[in-house]
Amino acid sequence: MQAKGPIGVFDSGYGGLTVLHDLARALPEHDFVYLGDNARAPYGTRSFETVYEYTLQSVEWLFRSQHCPLIILACNTASANALRSIQQNDLPRLGAGNRVLGVIRPSAEVIGRYSERGAVGILGTNGTVQSGSYALEIEKFFPHLKVYQQACPLWVPLIEHGELEGEGTRWFVKKYLDELRQQSPAIDAILLACTHYPLLIKQIEAALPAGIRVVSQGPLVADSLKDYLYRHAELDARVSRNGRRVFYTTDDPETFSRQGSSFFGATLHALHTELNY
Ligand code: DGL
Repeated sequence: MQAKGPIGVFDSGYGGLTVLHDLARALPEHDFVYLGDNARAPYGTRSFETVYEYTLQSVEWLFRSQHCPLIILACNTASANALRSIQQNDLPRLGAGNRVLGVIRPSAEVIGRYSERGAVGILGTNGTVQSGSYALEIEKFFPHLKVYQQACPLWVPLIEHGELEGEGTRWFVKKYLDELRQQSPAIDAILLACTHYPLLIKQIEAALPAGIRVVSQGPLVADSLKDYLYRHAELDARVSRNGRRVFYTTDDPETFSRQGSSFFGATLHALHTELNY
């Protein structure tokens, strides 16, 4: 019998903690280990090749050093640029029966239900928007849904610097929302397709007219994972269950613990790691 291990949750930095918050709530007994590659974040402005290389190194570390049977790429940029290549090219050599899943498909599967007028907006990093992954995935589930995308490159640095309130942030929130809505007045549902953006949800909602729904991914990914483990009992049986949450960062653990708590919604104590194993 294979040894049991935690579910790995990977993000370029802090953002995936907003997803882990919901995953841990949905699966309270399952163990989770989080890896934030803060030393090399942000990923959103990097090339496809670089995001793939960094994500692959992180995935290998989670498999080899943490013995995760399953990894969630809780980062849209990594899901958009690295997931498919890792699943197709790397997973066979990284461990038979191990799995890597992303956040795009669970969101694409349900986003059409939030729109009555058949038009949704996707807000993400440059890397996510340029990959075109959302439009491709959504088309499989909602072929008639119109998908409009908008990159919001200044939101991640504002959030990481704790600039959630104030005139400057309100201005940049409005700027990107206006640019999205100028693409189509029919948009009535907007997906926050970057794991950082839920921290700005109040400001985003305040800048929109009534009748436009703003959707965070965490609960969608959590529902989807719960369902996936139910359907894959052999994988679920390989996840250890002691209710443990362990946090690693490739940068300074004290800074991560301090900053990360506002993303995770609870205090946390991170450890440092290099990505060698
Ligand atoms: N967490 C990343 C995402 O969901 C954004 C942060 C970054 O650019 O590294 O796309």
